[in-house]
Amino acid sequence: MDKKVKQPIQVNLDKDRVYFWCTCGLSDKQPMCDGSHKGKSEKKSQSFRVEETKEYYLCTCKLTKNPPYCDGSHNS
Ligand code: FES
Repeated sequence: MDKKVKQPIQVNLDKDRVYFWCTCGLSDKQPMCDGSHKGKSEKKSQSFRVEETKEYYLCTCKLTKNPPYCDGSHNS
């Protein structure tokens, strides 16, 4: 089942908190990892932090070249 969403998701992220971005596309909690990759995908979550507390657009199509951020690749 393809759970990929083709648009970025706007999320408010807190400075210095660790987040886990879904790289496999199977998570039900897009754009974040919910552990769905275990046993189903070779891919693992990607941890990241932000420098500033604010809204960010995170990639859900998994095609971005600047993960976890949307870079417009979902349009191609
Ligand atoms: S959602 Fe925009 S590049 Fe993936």
